[in-house]
Amino acid sequence: MLADAIDALRCPHCSGTLTLDDGSVRCASGHVFDVARQGYVNLLPGNARTGSADTAAMVRARADFLGAGHFAAVSDALADAAAAALAGPDAPAGAVVDVGAGTGHHLAAVLDRLPERRGIALDISKHALRAAARAHPRAAAVGCDAWGGLPLRDGAAAVALSVFAPRDPAELARVVAPGGALVVATPEPGHLAEAVAALGMLTVPERKRERVAGQLDGAFAPAAGVSVRASLELDRTALGQIVAMGPSARHLEPAEIDRRVAALGEPFTVTLAVAVAAYRRRGEALRGRP
Ligand SMILES: C[S@@+](CC[C@H](N)C(=O)[O-])C[C@H]1O[C@@H](n2cnc3c(N)ncnc32)[C@H](O)[C@@H]1O
Ligand SMILES: [Zn+2]
Repeated sequence: MLADAIDALRCPHCSGTLTLDDGSVRCASGHVFDVARQGYVNLLPGNARTGSADTAAMVRARADFLGAGHFAAVSDALADAAAAALAGPDAPAGAVVDVGAGTGHHLAAVLDRLPERRGIALDISKHALRAAARAHPRAAAVGCDAWGGLPLRDGAAAVALSVFAPRDPAELARVVAPGGALVVATPEPGHLAEAVAALGMLTVPERKRERVAGQLDGAFAPAAGVSVRASLELDRTALGQIVAMGPSARHLEPAEIDRRVAALGEPFTVTLAVAVAAYRRRGEALRGRP
């Protein structure tokens, strides 16, 4: 619910406090943002470039693929990491913020594990935001550009999640409360490799776990990490969704995806190999902070 998240947000133009009333969000300086009928608010500045946003078809494919449970082990590892990071008596107050949340699927799993916390799904895609606004009763969905400054107050997040999504270390350091955590999921070598090879998929080179740690050095200290590994037995529907939800979808017609998938036998075994790493925000935890 947006109402539960409003005190964690800030105006993208003037960084002022926001209030929610009558279907709009506004700051004291008069910047106004409409709440979409689907329940999300777009806090993107008007001149923002949205070229990297997932399309409607990509979001649909991702929702169906994740909804079928193929990446449940990743959701579980994220929930384990977030719960472990907030287990101690000194855990800071604040929200669980998923930056580049997509459909909000993983955020919902984390919130299920943390019944006292509210969540905020941030994404640049309105199609993703529509899905994320319905992902969980305690989650709000907010439009922003992860590279252009997050519309969140300093220290508003007890935990930030970054799951196959853009990461701006300086902004993450600003919004994660001291004593809080950043939980990052990145593909490891071999992730989905059989599908990538058989279907001629594009892959976006990812930073290795060590390089993510280096990028975050300073504000965050590595705290814990696991490698999530499994063999997925996928039918052609799921294989098509893997292509349709990723970067290849921008270059391949749906009919071409169908043609390539139809040539494969099923079930088709695909490796899941994802690193889930937690980083502790350095600095002392401040109790009672919003
Ligand atoms: C690979 S998807 C991952 C989605 C989700 N974390 C998951 O794992 O299901 C990347 C997401 O980042 C979003 N995205 C891309 N560029 C962005 C930006 N500049 N700011 C915020 N979100 C962005 C896309 O719209 C998409 O939903
Ligand atoms: Zn403002």
